[in-house]
This record gives sequence, structure tokens and C-alpha cells, in this order.
Amino acid sequence: MIYNTKTYSTKKLYEAYNELKKFRNFSVSPLHERFIFPYICGTYFGYRKIDVLRVVAIAKSISPKPKYLDVGCGYGDFLDKIRQFIPDAIGIEKDGGIFYEFNRVKPDYIHIKDVSLDLNEKYDLVFVGWMDPGVDFRKAVANSTDVIITTLDQGISLGAEFEEFGFRRIAWWRTPSWIDVNYQIMNKYYTKMSNEIYEYLFDLRGAHNLWYVYTKNLEYTDTIRDVLIHCQQKDQAKYVFEQVMDEFGFACFENSQFSKKINESNLSSLWKIEFG
Ligand SMILES: C[S@@+](CC[C@H](N)C(=O)[O-])C[C@H]1O[C@@H](n2cnc3c(N)ncnc32)[C@H](O)[C@@H]1O
Repeated sequence: MIYNTKTYSTKKLYEAYNELKKFRNFSVSPLHERFIFPYICGTYFGYRKIDVLRVVAIAKSISPKPKYLDVGCGYGDFLDKIRQFIPDAIGIEKDGGIFYEFNRVKPDYIHIKDVSLDLNEKYDLVFVGWMDPGVDFRKAVANSTDVIITTLDQGISLGAEFEEFGFRRIAWWRTPSWIDVNYQIMNKYYTKMSNEIYEYLFDLRGAHNLWYVYTKNLEYTDTIRDVLIHCQQKDQAKYVFEQVMDEFGFACFENSQFSKKINESNLSSLWKIEFG
């Protein structure tokens, strides 16, 4: 059967909700849901509170009351965390059906529109959290702000790099892909396998979620660098769900042993901020 794009994505989402219902009948922990059903229970990128605090600190270094926009925010999982520090932060999401079709309340701070058609306001910071391959609204985003923070999975999420729009990447860091966390949870709790195979698979990592900080106003470079260094030096509180990442070796500033198994020897440690 052929579905048009909208019907197809709605159908996929129905399937995901059905699977979630089934999963809850045998789930070992509610903390697993966000890594197994990232779109409806979490995000497509693995994050900790340290990421939220970095993004907030950058926004507040630009303005004490920053105009903050999350583009393609989905249900707003990450946006909600940001709003604990920047209460006026808003999101734009193209697909209103993700709320209305599934009886989920749409918060008034999430606006349903296509960002590439309608983004005529200026923002202090625009956050773009993991775009689907093929989706590209960079031009609209680039025209609406001087500072962009974007997350992408290397080699999967395209349309997330902004150099060609006059921006310079001034800092970046790496967090685990939700897919790797998902594999670990599935292997340990939901798949029968020998200890030997489990141990072997524990070190395997497939994808990396990258966070890029861009600006086209180079006057912000030093300020952003300073706030990021300051954030990196502070001990951070954690969200409860971070214990899942801790359990599987995705610790802050650690590289675990996985580079033994895949040819990634140049990778920097998880969450370590690199400049330039
Ligand atoms: C891969 S999901 C990422 C959702 C969320 N940021 C996350 O990481 O879980 C991409 C989201 O962007 C939305 N989107 C795609 N094109 C858009 C556009 N032109 N304007 C606004 N939202 C868009 C999609 O509907 C979808 O919710």
C-alpha cells in the first residue's frame, strides 16, 4: 500500500505508540522508554543536564533574557528542560498531527508551522535538534539568528551544518547516539545471549551525536568560549534518566574502551568541549 508522506509518518507514529503500549507490559524500567522510543518519550539525541546547562549558558551570555527558539522540537522534551531556565523559550514544530492525532496536549509555547515558510522574527539563539535526512531549512534558520546550536548524527542527519550561510563553528562536543544506548539496553535486558557475546557487544559503538555551536557574529566567540569553559569546570546535577547512560559506560569525559573495536582513535571524550 502507498501512503502519502503525512499519512505515512502518522501511521509510523501509531505503530510506535502501539509498540510502546506492548513494551510497557514487560519493561524493566520506565527509564528505558526514552532510548527505545526517542521521538515520543525523549529525543533523537542523547543528552544530560550538562548539555542543557551549556545551551542555557550560551543563550544567557548573549542576552540576560534571551529569545530562544527550538526548531523541529517535536513534543518538546529538550525544550521543556530549557524552559526551566529560560521560561520564555519557544518551539516550532511542523506537524501538528503529532499532538492532535494522539490526544496529546499541545503546549502553547510550541507553535505549529513550517519553519522554512515562516520565520521572520529574530532570535538570540536557535537550537536545531537532529533533523531527518533530506530535511533542510537552514536558510530560514540562518536568517533568523546570529547563534545556532545544532545536533546531528555523523553521516545520518544532513542539513545541519551552517558554514555556507556565513557561520563559523566555534565549539563542539560529542554525546552518545540514542541508538547506541538503545542497543545496550536491548542487549542487557531484552535479548537472550551468552555472557561472552554480551561482553563483546558492550564495547561496540556505532554512531556519535555531535553538538555544534555556530555564530556569524564573531564578537560572541570569546564570550561563548568563556561560558563553556566555566560550565565544563562545574560539577553538574543530573537527570534521573542519566543513570542509564552511566550504567552502559557513556560517562562524561570518558572514552570507554570502545575505540579498541572500531577505528575511531581520533575521537574526543564524550562531552569534552572542543573549540574551533
Ligand atoms: C527527527 S525529528 C527531531 C525532533 C526532536 N528535535 C528530537 O530530537 O527528538 C525532526 C522534527 O522536525 C520537524 N520538522 C521537519 N521539518 C520541519 C519544518 N520545516 N518546520 C518545522 N519543523 C519541522 C518534524 O516534524 C520532526 O518533529
